[in-house]
Amino acid sequence: MTFARILGTGGYLPDRVVTNEDLARMVETSDEWIVSRTGIRERRIAAAGQTTCDLAEQAARAALAAAGCTAQDIDLIIVATTTPDRIFPSTACLLQDRLGNHGAPAFDVQAVCTGFIYALATAEKFIRSGSARKALVVGAETMSRIVDWTDRATCVLFGDGAGAVIVGTDSEPGIMSSHLHADGAYKDLLTVAGGVSEHPEILREGTAHVLMRGNEVFRMAVTTLDNIVEESLQANGLRREEVRWLVPHQANTRIIAATAKRLGMSMDQVVVTVDRHGNTSGASIPLAFDVAVRDGRIQRGDIVLMEGFGGGFTWGSILLRY
Ligand code: UT7
Repeated sequence: MTFARILGTGGYLPDRVVTNEDLARMVETSDEWIVSRTGIRERRIAAAGQTTCDLAEQAARAALAAAGCTAQDIDLIIVATTTPDRIFPSTACLLQDRLGNHGAPAFDVQAVCTGFIYALATAEKFIRSGSARKALVVGAETMSRIVDWTDRATCVLFGDGAGAVIVGTDSEPGIMSSHLHADGAYKDLLTVAGGVSEHPEILREGTAHVLMRGNEVFRMAVTTLDNIVEESLQANGLRREEVRWLVPHQANTRIIAATAKRLGMSMDQVVVTVDRHGNTSGASIPLAFDVAVRDGRIQRGDIVLMEGFGGGFTWGSILLRY
């Protein structure tokens, strides 16, 4: 039996730091409000002309180096993004060209903040079925391009960045299970209205911005993440205390703390980067994972629960032994 295992991780953040104080000079807000409601202190914003693929490339190269392999070894490329460089080709194809890989299937996954979970679950199924042996899975975003910088309710929340993993084969699980869900009935609670086919004028006018009914999203996120934690544990017959690390989507420390409480975990078993990264949507989970692998917190053999929630709504989790 073939299983999927994460062989290496990488992450990349743009250089420019934007603090809460910087934002307080642009909109009517304060460091106190942002920290107390979200936990965010600063975020990184891509330079003019720096694209999602630019960030993805840096994260991918770091992950390839960590896994000790080259782009030519990769036989599957998946990029989770909601802010692609172009309408088409996919950012995965653009990334493939940058890396000099030819012929591997390459495609994007769009599940907003749950995108990386969807992408990693997809890669796992390719590996387990024998369709791929080494996959590059990236979450990369330039959320700053779809934020209304005059709207204090949303512009303080988001940041840019990319995280990546290389997934390979093993005779024992690595990835133990994945759990994916969606409910499109909630499409209007968190959305960017305007696209190629519906309201193309919004795209033309350059006003395709994140719209969020924050409070309703918050409540749904907490309940839904509680349920997915239970689902993941039950599917594997695991007790809560066997999970060593929680690597959650980084939207809000209050949501993260609620999930940790449900797991009976102390916050020092939870990887939190939202204070420095803001909400980087599909990039947030692989970025947080990479941070904790590189600083030595997550060790080989540790059981890790990744979970995410986002627009769609979409939500999902991956339970793995690193
Ligand atoms: O990543 C995908 C999933 N996304 C999430 O999980 C996000 C979920 N939602 C949240 O994290 C929270 O709802 C927010 C952080 C977005 C907002 O926090 P909240 O406690 O739900 O605040 P609120 O939206 O209910 O707003 C409370 C007040 C309002 O003023 P009034 O109506 O009470 O006078 C807002 O106008 O705070 C005001 N407000 C602000 N004040 C200062 C909203 N944004 C700001 C701001 N600075 N930046």
